[in-house]
Amino acid sequence: MKNRREFVQTALAGAAGLAFSRYARISATATEGLDSRVEILLDESRGTISPNLYGHFTEHLGGTIYDGVWVGPKSKVPNTSGIRNELVDQMRKIKAPVVRYPGGCFADSYDWRDGIGPAEKRPRRTNFWIEAENDKSPASHKYEPNEFGTNEFVHFCKLIGAEPYLAANVRSLPASEFYRWVEYCNSPAGSTTLAEERAKAGSAQPYNVRYWGVGNESWGCGGNFTPQEYAAEFRRYSAWVPHYSQSLSLIASGPNSGDWNWTRGFFEEMARKGPSQFASIYGWALHHYAWNLSRGRTTDWEKGKGDAIQFDPVDWYEILREGERVEELILGHWQVMGEFDREHRVKLVVDEWGPWYRSGSEATPGDILEQTPTLRDAVFSAMTLDIFNRHAGKLHMANCAQLINCLNSLYLAHEDRFVVTPVGHVFEMYAGHQGGESLRIVFSAPTVHYDRDGKPATFWGLNGSASLHGKDLLVTVVNPHTTQARETEVAIRGGSANSAMAATLSHADIHARNTFDNHEALIPQKKASVARNGIVVHTFPAASVTALSIRLT
Ligand code: AHR
Repeated sequence: MKNRREFVQTALAGAAGLAFSRYARISATATEGLDSRVEILLDESRGTISPNLYGHFTEHLGGTIYDGVWVGPKSKVPNTSGIRNELVDQMRKIKAPVVRYPGGCFADSYDWRDGIGPAEKRPRRTNFWIEAENDKSPASHKYEPNEFGTNEFVHFCKLIGAEPYLAANVRSLPASEFYRWVEYCNSPAGSTTLAEERAKAGSAQPYNVRYWGVGNESWGCGGNFTPQEYAAEFRRYSAWVPHYSQSLSLIASGPNSGDWNWTRGFFEEMARKGPSQFASIYGWALHHYAWNLSRGRTTDWEKGKGDAIQFDPVDWYEILREGERVEELILGHWQVMGEFDREHRVKLVVDEWGPWYRSGSEATPGDILEQTPTLRDAVFSAMTLDIFNRHAGKLHMANCAQLINCLNSLYLAHEDRFVVTPVGHVFEMYAGHQGGESLRIVFSAPTVHYDRDGKPATFWGLNGSASLHGKDLLVTVVNPHTTQARETEVAIRGGSANSAMAATLSHADIHARNTFDNHEALIPQKKASVARNGIVVHTFPAASVTALSIRLT
């Protein structure tokens, strides 16, 4: 039996009735014929939504970098110094805040020095993922050509207006190489030999990289450590890191889904050295992939996975159920962290998340781990981003795995072909949440009932999140029901709606997806929504994601 480690060698529901009963008068005037209600509480903040919750992840894995981000300066594909222009244009639209690189598991096999200096002098190396590659995979996926390295990545981030987040190699390089990489990126113009090397690459001025991961999945591909061993490594790697004028935010390698032992072991070991140790940790990186569609039959990593594009309604609900676990994981790990870090100095960073299906739906044969996202993945992604918004106070960052030509990708590309997936559209619809004040939101809607192999199963009827920027309220809502629309009133406690616009992503076919030949099978539809007596009345279609932009009076 294989698990992932081997492979990579509405808590609010109870409160809803209470909140609505206080607003029975408002409801009585507006709810006739409606089956659901949403209430947003303007005076109950959940914290500011860090823009970085809308972060991305690019690894030297399959077609993510080569063919996805990087086409090379000599390519016929429109590019800026080798970086695919269409990707840059799209990422500007979604206000991409931060990008993690170069892995993932690749990071703990990567020597950053291979990826700097004149392109023609850079070595070719065996990629971490070579064993997973196949006959159709191009050589650049198997043998890393190092055409794309630190300079190109930082340039990519500059083009899209995002912060770089670099993951350092803890498994196979000494701590001194981590310090040198920081020196290369951040030492002042002309100050060090590495600053001079950076200048030769076109940037005399420092890159000022703030976010650094100290390893990746150190419980598995990143070193196979025990949590106690990793804590000792983390202390060593972070004990003296030169930071020049850029303060550094170090992110420690956190748990795989519900591995409480990893969180407890690490925090306990750090606390043993003294609580001041927590000051050196900016984030604790949780990874959660939703993959098991076996409905309880197996926990085998290969056998448990389902198909990305061929699925039945039960698979639809099951992947949402698996994905929704991230909320209990946030709460659970937060609690364990707090047992040791009583002031909660360390926040969570969910730097890998998304659904993971078995291979077979690749838009480009040979691109390992590439899958074609459908409406199901749009709903999954929206649900996940809503969870992050609702827990804004506990999270510093989150990074969808992975940006392009990979798992839950926003974009698919091959040579001169490019398409925005339904997941990409969700990121655009949700971009307005970045930097907003997350507000308490309460849903009341009929529960979804379905048959799970002869046994009754349920899922929530509506869920979402709300954020405020001045008088602009953004309410995002997921209706997971595969066939039923929800006629809903959206009431605002402490304010009233003047006007509302809705962008909706939905389709009669739950398998709807965009392809290289059909870019617009699934795109958001915009229309004005009804605002009456300060309340918005809106129908959330079956199997939909909606962004309601409400202007308050
Ligand atoms: O995102 C794919 C892989 O999943 C990453 O390299 C690794 O960190 C995780 O196991």
